[in-house]
Amino acid sequence: AFAESICASSIIVKRRRSMRYSRIVGTGGYLPEKVLTNHDLERMVDTSDEWIRSRTGITQRHIAADHELASDLALHASRKAMEAAGIKAEEIDLIIVATTTPDMIFPSTACILQDKLGAGNCPAFDVQAVCSGFVYALATADMFIRAGRCRNALVVGSEVYSRILDWSDRSTCVLFGDGAGAVVLSQSDRPGILSSHLHADGKHSKILAVPGSICDGKVQGKPFLIMEGNTVFKFAVKVLEEVVHEALAENNLQASDIDWLIPHQANIRIIQSTAKKLGMPMEKVVVTVDKHGNTSAASIPLALDAAVRDGRIKSGQHVLMEGVGGGFTWGAVLLRW
Ligand code: ACO
Repeated sequence: AFAESICASSIIVKRRRSMRYSRIVGTGGYLPEKVLTNHDLERMVDTSDEWIRSRTGITQRHIAADHELASDLALHASRKAMEAAGIKAEEIDLIIVATTTPDMIFPSTACILQDKLGAGNCPAFDVQAVCSGFVYALATADMFIRAGRCRNALVVGSEVYSRILDWSDRSTCVLFGDGAGAVVLSQSDRPGILSSHLHADGKHSKILAVPGSICDGKVQGKPFLIMEGNTVFKFAVKVLEEVVHEALAENNLQASDIDWLIPHQANIRIIQSTAKKLGMPMEKVVVTVDKHGNTSAASIPLALDAAVRDGRIKSGQHVLMEGVGGGFTWGAVLLRW
């Protein structure tokens, strides 16, 4: 019996030793200098500040300078996240960039960022899941860390949507903005990320797309964002509620246990609908869509960075991130700060 109990306790010790989690240890954000207000847009297309604000909650968005690429925005945000984490470039051993607006077809924006950071020979790749990109990238990095394949991952969402908008189409150009957000995710013996939940349904690929491609040196099809706004709205509200419940159920938590909801910032009405369905007061929801517009894969890490830096998010609190985007893709990450 004595030998058995020794055996059992050594198994527990081994399990404890092999228990790896990932934690966000630093955040950073970057918004290009140029601000485009709703009033500026009134001079470009047939729209009004009142229409944009009442339908979307957006008052302004940032627009990248002509020379700024997704990797440049990512570089600024990454440096801030690494500074906050106290991690040097050579300590980063995985880089994942979520973007739908890469610098070029290849190499990946993550490889370009690695070079700009001077981050050595770690694996680097892009994730293309549109507005769910950051959630997909964070979930992937978490799995790398828990599998023991890396210690410090740099996870970035960076977008220059201004490049894929038809600036004469009022139904889409008023909705988006440029920006980047980044986190350093490090190995830890306590969570951190509690669970991640990813989904996709390619049947809906036509309701939100940039359907262009390149062939024979020419652009084939439309290289601008197209969207069936109403269909996207209904789909987004439905799947976000589902994925939030999935995350809560897996962790035996109630919506009331969540201290901060950090939703993808597409539209204040989508955010309010999700919060209402969960019975969460808007005071617990981080909102940046008013100032940033929809920055796609950058919106969640930008909102997270804002709430970390102004002290809203505190140690031990439950934070739930959720996003939905073209594909269709959607997902959530639940973590303890
Ligand atoms: N200014 C003034 N009028 C406009 C504008 C504009 N910028 N854009 C459209 N309109 C007009 C339309 O032409 C239409 O006019 P009509 O009635 O004479 O035909 C009228 O406004 C109403 O158009 P709807 O599309 O029905 O407006 P709706 O209330 O649905 O709002 C919106 C449109 C804001 C796009 C909404 O559908 C929405 O939020 N959808 C979610 C989409 C979204 O957020 N996508 C982001 C990417 S996806 C993601 O990140 C999840």
